[in-house]
Amino acid sequence: MKKVIVTGGTGFIGSHTVVELLQRGYDVVVADDLSNSKASVIDRIAEITGEKPILEIIDLSDRTACLRFFKMHSDADAVIHFAAAKAVGESVLHPLHYYRNNLDSLLYVLEGMEKAGCRKLVYSSSCTVYGQPEHLPVTEDTPRQPATCPYANTKRVSEDILADVVHGYEAGKQKGTLEADYKPWKILALRYFNPIGAHPSALIGELPNGVPNNLMPYITQTAAGLRPCLQVFGDDYDTPDGTPIRDYIHVCDLADAHVAAMEYMDKGGFEGMDYFNLGAGHGYSVLEVIQSFERSTGQKLNYKIAGRREGDIEQIWADASKANRLLGWKAKRSLDEMTLSAWKWQESLSKTI
Ligand code: UD1
Repeated sequence: MKKVIVTGGTGFIGSHTVVELLQRGYDVVVADDLSNSKASVIDRIAEITGEKPILEIIDLSDRTACLRFFKMHSDADAVIHFAAAKAVGESVLHPLHYYRNNLDSLLYVLEGMEKAGCRKLVYSSSCTVYGQPEHLPVTEDTPRQPATCPYANTKRVSEDILADVVHGYEAGKQKGTLEADYKPWKILALRYFNPIGAHPSALIGELPNGVPNNLMPYITQTAAGLRPCLQVFGDDYDTPDGTPIRDYIHVCDLADAHVAAMEYMDKGGFEGMDYFNLGAGHGYSVLEVIQSFERSTGQKLNYKIAGRREGDIEQIWADASKANRLLGWKAKRSLDEMTLSAWKWQESLSKTI
């Protein structure tokens, strides 16, 4: 069984990916500081899969702790690095925390991997690196834009760090300075669009701390009566109904893509770094997401149109054909499946908490 280290494996995308990996026969070690998740997620994963992954509670931006962790798990075959802080507004208020947390941890993970001789990495990047693109849909060659907030900048800089690591490896190979048995670096940066939805078991899902920043948990919490009203941030954009458009992707489709990425790295011929857009390839407006929620759950949602949110882009969706072509992966689940599964998860939370 191949052992995979999943950092941030108790988080939203991480937990769904761990489920998929376990169900495909991987051996999983989760590293998480539980700063935005709960240890009980591990029990939920065990309930779904019948396998309980090891959980190491660790702050990866603590170099000593991180290197010790990699030494303990030096038999790992690959790493999927989700662990990071991701709230746009919070990153504006606490930039130093974001840079330290997201960048230090990446540097120490890479150092730990280098020392352990484990050089296969799947990195969680984001469509945020594209900013507001000129042409839609965006391909992986669409130019990246200067970041609009510290969070977005950590994703951009992280991609650059990874490219430099691979470049350093390639330069060493050319100069013949690497040891004969040096394993090549294989890095995939996956640029996620807007992941929503939850596992069909409703045992795991998104668990935002406090007031949600993102659309889907705000919708489900409003429908559950935890928030009085959803504010739709702007209906005066240059889109068919005036509300912004995003490429929403079911978190289980995203989890599948990580397994496809792992398999791709094992295929002969791949080394170095590559980038993949992970989106459904369709754009939906905020109002369309609300309509889908109302249709799939049979509930009316209380919402009102409010002013634009600072820093929001107007519209973006992915050309995900490269992932389809090379990873053999495609998003399968519909928007209604996304909104309904998110609601079932919210309902299960109301029952258990
Ligand atoms: C943002 C980040 C993205 C990050 C993601 C996860 C940017 C530009 N985007 O995505 O990189 O990965 O968060 O944290 O950095 N909306 C409302 N009312 C609400 C909440 C949202 O109308 O209460 C609207 C927004 O205006 C937007 C859409 O819903 O049009 C989606 O918003 P959200 O879920 O926050 O995701 P993004 O801003 O696209």
